[in-house]
Amino acid sequence: MNKNTRLITIAVDGYSSSGKSTMARRLAAAVGYRYIDSGAMYRAVTLYALDNGLISTDGEPDKAAIVSALPEISIDFAVQPDGTQHTLLNGVDVETEIRRLRVSNAVSPVAAIAEVRRALVAMQKKMGERKGIVMDGRDIGTVVFPDAELKIFVDASPETRAMRRFKELVEKGSQVSYEDVLSNVVHRDHIDTTRDESPLRRAEDAISLDNSLMSLEEQDAWLLKQFNKVLQFG
Ligand code: DC
Repeated sequence: MNKNTRLITIAVDGYSSSGKSTMARRLAAAVGYRYIDSGAMYRAVTLYALDNGLISTDGEPDKAAIVSALPEISIDFAVQPDGTQHTLLNGVDVETEIRRLRVSNAVSPVAAIAEVRRALVAMQKKMGERKGIVMDGRDIGTVVFPDAELKIFVDASPETRAMRRFKELVEKGSQVSYEDVLSNVVHRDHIDTTRDESPLRRAEDAISLDNSLMSLEEQDAWLLKQFNKVLQFG
């Protein structure tokens, strides 16, 4: 990258299964920026809690125990030879583990703990200190980087997101119905937007993108246009 090019901060927020991680990763690769999946950090804390018996069998997290364990949890990202990033929990590659259903099912209540959010947000702010970063999540444009030069809010319809998730699950061999996936998407949207701590909402200065009818290539082109606009005029 040209040394004189101004580095900016890019925040990508949106609903679950909106394709925001794919979008953020591709944009980061296209402009040579670092990509951070903030959801992976909430998943890593959840994995630690599960493996250390800090979440009951009915999914209730032991908040006090998780909060006091926070100083013992370190999270890093390691870039792989193929350019993808793997999440490290206390130095161990947990990328596969954190994507499993046991973590997906337990992560929402852990991500709702105020002290967990405070600790992870502080780490995320530090990662973004030198700019040149694309981070995706739920509160990136509102809480983590309120001054980000470019904020995208991804906004596909619940039906489109449910269909994407349904296809992914069927490809992985799951026997699920589209109706069940749709009601799960609607339920998660409700939890994400109504929780007390940093609920998902669009930052006032975010650009909305409804990618329901866009191909990946069209989306890439749209993102690059927004990026170049900020560098030119922002
Ligand atoms: O994007 P994801 O499904 O990997 O996110 C995992 C969980 O973490 C999900 O419950 C939403 C939550 N999350 C959050 O609260 N704030 C973020 N910045 C990112 C994810």
